[in-house]
Amino acid sequence: MTSKFFVPRADRRLGGRYELIECLGDGSYGWVWRAQRLTDGAIVAVKIPKAQGKRNEELAEGSPLIEQLPHPCVVDVYWMGRVPPEREWYVIEMEYFPSITLAQLLDKGEEGFVASYDKLLGVFEQVLEGCAHLHRLGMSHGDIKPQNILVSADRAKLTDFGSSVLPEDMYARTRENGGTILYSAPESVGATMLSKNRTSGFLCDVYSLGVLLYHLVTARLPHDTLSQVARHVPFPRAREVNSSVSQPLDDYIDRCLKLAPEERWPNIDAMLDAFRAVRRAQLQFTPTRMLAIPQALREDWSTQAVRLVEAGDYRDAELVARAEFESTRDAQAFLLMVQASYQEGRYFDCIRDLEARPDVVDSPTSTGAELRRLALSTYLEVGQVDRARVFVARCLAETPDAPDLLLKHASILALDAKYEDAAEQLMDLNRRIPGKPAILRRLVAVFEQLRDTGKAAAFLRAYQKAAPDDPWAASKAEHFRALGLA
Ligand SMILES: Nc1ncnc2c1ncn2[C@@H]1O[C@H](COP(=O)(O)OP(=O)(O)O)[C@@H](O)[C@H]1O
Ligand SMILES: [Mg+2]
Repeated sequence: MTSKFFVPRADRRLGGRYELIECLGDGSYGWVWRAQRLTDGAIVAVKIPKAQGKRNEELAEGSPLIEQLPHPCVVDVYWMGRVPPEREWYVIEMEYFPSITLAQLLDKGEEGFVASYDKLLGVFEQVLEGCAHLHRLGMSHGDIKPQNILVSADRAKLTDFGSSVLPEDMYARTRENGGTILYSAPESVGATMLSKNRTSGFLCDVYSLGVLLYHLVTARLPHDTLSQVARHVPFPRAREVNSSVSQPLDDYIDRCLKLAPEERWPNIDAMLDAFRAVRRAQLQFTPTRMLAIPQALREDWSTQAVRLVEAGDYRDAELVARAEFESTRDAQAFLLMVQASYQEGRYFDCIRDLEARPDVVDSPTSTGAELRRLALSTYLEVGQVDRARVFVARCLAETPDAPDLLLKHASILALDAKYEDAAEQLMDLNRRIPGKPAILRRLVAVFEQLRDTGKAAAFLRAYQKAAPDDPWAASKAEHFRALGLA
């Protein structure tokens, strides 16, 4: 029988075996409930696969784990089968692990978490250990991604063995990856049954682990679409996205993400070995960079930093300011350091620094205020609108009339699709400081969104007076003329 939705009975019993307490997760393939096992009162997690119509063998997940001693980094599996006495529902009974998924943790942008290599690499090492355990049992995981990693205060565990395969049942089990394929190895996406047979699930896991680590340290993924994954289109190295990634960590990630499986790390034990050294190197990385500045050569740090900024040498300016900040905790040095990396377009470095020092960013001084404005600009640059909204509100509370803030506020309103409010804000600004191209150009865009093409065309004419040679405006004007509006 196939049942599309699982609805608990009024008495919350599932067969004679469980009392359901709380739904913990609705994945692509199953519902997971916290439940009490009636025989002994133990609290367990019960996964109820959605495809109940399939054969029991196809619904089984992680069966090799049942006879094994539990591993701290893998959710333990206790039992699976159709729940007696009715034997209607097939379930997988597992260890209940109070946690949130790594995906949720990353989404929340958890203060401090994404800014701390120690924590990020600590979680990754546990995922590696969990994966090593599975591989030793002859199972590949098949779907390593943040949604399938459960995290509590100091422990990470792999869950969801629904894509996991033993080499001998490559043919028996195929499950498309639910949700995202962006962590999958190129050879595993769109692979036919035949080529799948020749694909090593273990080396696919190695690739997914590389994507996971890349995500953890850069806050982005190597690829954004299935087709990019499948074609393995070139992507920037982790270190190019985030310059605080050390060379050993960058090389380590790169080796996971090789197109040719045989060029990747050969197995998880080799990965674990190498990772311990890479982790140590990464944690020592920033201090080494600071020591690179010869003490004897140092003129007054701020003169030196300002001179470097003027010469466009933002990288060295940042290092000088960082060294000063590390030794004196001077807020002005911190500001200069973040400004320098902003100028160079290294926005993730800015965010990492800003989020590491909320005390400096929150301080009620003029330097604090400048840092908050810088934070606003940075979050807008990387499209973190939630964080930008927080900072624009804080900055506006301090200086309610600042035109650049109002302009940014209008942009956030537009990003939130609040075009009426954005238009009002921009018109206000335009009355106060008329003829500013930056304002007029946004007015054109906002009125286009509001489908008020008459006003959009009028502001375009004003824009063209203020900025006569902009090809964008010329082509817009052409477009409006075609609509009979100019
Ligand atoms: N053992 C567990 N303890 C607590 N929560 C869990 C457990 N296993 C899974 N979950 C939660 O349920 C969600 C879905 O489980 P998962 O096995 O990944 O299902 P699917 O196969 O549908 O992706 C997980 O993302 C997680 O939030
Ligand atoms: Mg899952």
